[in-house]
Amino acid sequence: MIISASNDYRAAAKAKLPPFLFHYIDGGSYDEQTLRRNSDDLADVALRQRVLRNMSDLSLDTELFDEKLGLPIALAPVGLTGMYARRGEVQAAKAAERKGVPFTMSTVSVCPIEEVVPAISRPMWFQLYVLKDRGFMRNVLERAKATGVKTLVFTVDMPVPGARHRDAHSGMSGPNAAFRRVLQSTMHPRWAWDVGVMGKPHDLGNISTYRGEPTKLEDYIGWLGNNFDPSISWKDLEWIRDFWDGPMIIKGILDKEDAQDAVRFGADGIVVSNHGGRQLDGVLSTAKALPPIADAVKGDLKILVDSGIRTGLDVVRMIALGADCTMLGRAFVYALAADGERGVYNVLDLIEKEMRVAMTLTGAKSISELNSEALVNIARDL
Ligand code: FNR
Ligand code: LAC
Repeated sequence: MIISASNDYRAAAKAKLPPFLFHYIDGGSYDEQTLRRNSDDLADVALRQRVLRNMSDLSLDTELFDEKLGLPIALAPVGLTGMYARRGEVQAAKAAERKGVPFTMSTVSVCPIEEVVPAISRPMWFQLYVLKDRGFMRNVLERAKATGVKTLVFTVDMPVPGARHRDAHSGMSGPNAAFRRVLQSTMHPRWAWDVGVMGKPHDLGNISTYRGEPTKLEDYIGWLGNNFDPSISWKDLEWIRDFWDGPMIIKGILDKEDAQDAVRFGADGIVVSNHGGRQLDGVLSTAKALPPIADAVKGDLKILVDSGIRTGLDVVRMIALGADCTMLGRAFVYALAADGERGVYNVLDLIEKEMRVAMTLTGAKSISELNSEALVNIARDL
């Protein structure tokens, strides 16, 4: 039964998905220290209870890059979303649209841009990596532009993929991976029918469209390692900024000095992110990294944040710590895997309800009023 946004969908996703996919979603890199810190540090951020302040006209609306959002949330780019539910990118984008929030398509999505954009009327956001094949980058940017994508999320924290030990154990990669995946699929018939049979084609839709031939998923992790470009520097981003007319958001900033470089570069936004604990294990949680970054660059560009956000309370905490907007990764993916479009809509609805309770009881009537006053300040209050 689904009651909470935090754990119930994760349990449902675990039951439905073959283990190689569940652990790819759920896991982090190396010993998963940062993965744990993300949720532990966020839970440690204490909210300040305020009462008797007439909170009847509460609003969760916000505006970002001239776009109206019903909640201060965007769905984060997540690779292989179409392997977690049938044509999963389309389902997630439809649910996001119904809740008035943006869906961000990953470079390595299953559905191509051309399949998702016509399915929604809200502008989609598109995420790009620096890949070795600059021809692909140009092609996909042209296609995104042609379909009306305005907001580009440029991910910079994956010049190399962090080692995900769980993937090697689960059959996502490692010895006999293909055989183990088939075996696991036959033992998860609901997924095997929904996605395995009905959800084809299974490939990297954006890349296949460019190459004119299917990109097989057999060695997805190997593909990431071979195609991501470790030589990336700020200079590589210049032609993209020149080419792209709409807002450009740099995703994967965790340090104040990089945030200041993003301002100098002319970015419209940043996502304070450690990639959900999937890249450099041992780095700070985003709950800890965000406040000094907000002190340094708030107002110079829009600050988005992700990693570890599972509930409406977490969204409230992140906004109070200095973010303008949040991104949800696993929180929407578990719900999508469990129950498709309906699951994503419902998890956003649960998060909205939690936010309303939290804002009523912290005394913040709007997203712009939600700031550090909503948090217990140890030096001041205790
Ligand atoms: C991701 N993330 C990600 N980021 C990105 O820029 N492009 C991508 O293709 C992917 N792929 C991806 C796959 C999976 C399975 C996960 C869980 C994550 C990172 C994602 O956008 C976001 O930064 C994290 O998911 C945030 O952490 P939480 O909310 O999942 O804890
Ligand atoms: C990941 C990549 C695809 O985190 O961003 O698995």
